[in-house]
Amino acid sequence: MVKVLSLSFGSYMHNKILYNDIDIIEAKIWELQSILRRKKWEYLGAGRHRIVYRAPNGNRVIKIAHCVEGIEANKQEYLLSTDPCYRIQTLRFVNVPTAKVFGIGSVLGLSIISMEWVDSHTAFSLPAWSHNVDGRQVGINVDGEFVAYDFSMC
Ligand SMILES: Nc1ncnc2c1ncn2[C@@H]1O[C@H](COP(=O)(O)OP(=O)(O)O)[C@@H](O)[C@H]1O
Ligand SMILES: [Mg+2]
Repeated sequence: MVKVLSLSFGSYMHNKILYNDIDIIEAKIWELQSILRRKKWEYLGAGRHRIVYRAPNGNRVIKIAHCVEGIEANKQEYLLSTDPCYRIQTLRFVNVPTAKVFGIGSVLGLSIISMEWVDSHTAFSLPAWSHNVDGRQVGINVDGEFVAYDFSMC
């Protein structure tokens, strides 16, 4: 838990202030999306908290928080993927394989994480553990493993 606070509390506060200003946040999200489109990133979808793009010729995505809850979701997914202690404390996902998160940061003041790309469109039978994942948001990564791709507690 200590790690959550020490991660980057300063930028978390900064982000919260930015995210509470709806006009600024909309403009920043618009700007970042137009940069990504120009650089041929592929729009994959938007959820309640994040907008997601896939890198050209790559098997990674970025998840851009579009609300305060998205900042928190990004932090939780980063910690669940990279910190075994945090994962054990978070009892809910102990038995759920999750997509790899490569990094967390901010671009134009927006919270982003970099995550491995997961194929959720090819037909597959759902693994038994998927009922523990909200909306059964699971798929297959490039190594052929079933993983959850939306696994925060937000
Ligand atoms: N790692 C990923 N690989 C491929 N598509 C993804 C990945 N993560 C998210 N997506 C796509 O982006 C959409 C929104 O992402 P999601 O993690 O569900 O955001 P939210 O937390 O806002 O619900 C998903 O419904 C899915 O279509
Ligand atoms: Mg989702």
